[in-house]
Amino acid sequence: MTAFIGSPRRGRTLKAVEGFEKKLKQLGEIDFEYIWLKDRDLKSCRGCGICLERGEELCPLKDDRDDLFQRMRQADGVIFATPVYSLQVTALLKNMLDRFSYLFHRPCFFHKTFMPIVVQGVYGMGGVLKYLDEVARFWGFKTCPGLGLTISGQNLPPGEQEKIDQATEKAAARFYRLLNDPADPVPSIKDVLIFRSVRTIHSLAAGLPRDHEYYKERGWFATDYYYPTRLGWLKRLVGAWADRQALKQARKIKSETTGSNKY
Ligand SMILES: Cc1cc2nc3c(=O)[nH]c(=O)nc-3n(C[C@H](O)[C@H](O)[C@H](O)COP(=O)(O)O)c2cc1C
Repeated sequence: MTAFIGSPRRGRTLKAVEGFEKKLKQLGEIDFEYIWLKDRDLKSCRGCGICLERGEELCPLKDDRDDLFQRMRQADGVIFATPVYSLQVTALLKNMLDRFSYLFHRPCFFHKTFMPIVVQGVYGMGGVLKYLDEVARFWGFKTCPGLGLTISGQNLPPGEQEKIDQATEKAAARFYRLLNDPADPVPSIKDVLIFRSVRTIHSLAAGLPRDHEYYKERGWFATDYYYPTRLGWLKRLVGAWADRQALKQARKIKSETTGSNKY
């Protein structure tokens, strides 16, 4: 279990994660690792797009990115924890997401469980929880509804700590359940639409070559979804429709490819 902490200080976000760790450990034996983004060397993404186009190993920035990736790769469960800053995640966390942008193209965290922990003063937490959930889904995680806490002022009003403890306990319980559930999530119609459109584009090599290879190696040109799953008739219909639409689009792209800005 690895928690990435996006706060630049040891404040309420850390406290929220420590509370979560305590509740989680009451449910079973779990190793819990903290990664402080503020203490790690993770340079700002320069936007060259080399990771997307030619491969993440060719990123010109040499720092802790690969180590952070390995920490996620090795963990069964991953937490991204952040305070709300200007209605968003902190710059520390956002930079990490940018540096891992190639995972939107080449997802790899299937069968792993993700949960966001977000602390706000007043407003913005809902959007941030939703945002992090969506990022993690794109990267392949099975996602668990996050823990969001509102903590205003220096001192907590009477009864507030109990409410925080209860919300934390519930979040730990749902995370623990999902972590121990061997079943992969059933894809939504939107998930099927995205997978089928993207893979069909790649099957004709009308996208980025690196993505084409990645999809080919995993056999995704011939599967219904990233992993074996039972699709009902509506999802099969939507999938077949998406394949047809994407095929038309891929042919169009191929016929007019100039190769300028492809991602
Ligand atoms: C630069 C900055 C921007 C912030 N923006 C928001 C915001 O948009 N919405 C909000 O509710 N709280 C905002 N806050 C308050 C923090 O989210 C809140 O104090 C949080 O508990 C801080 O977590 P920490 O103790 O881990 O630093 C902001 C705080 C800072 C320092």
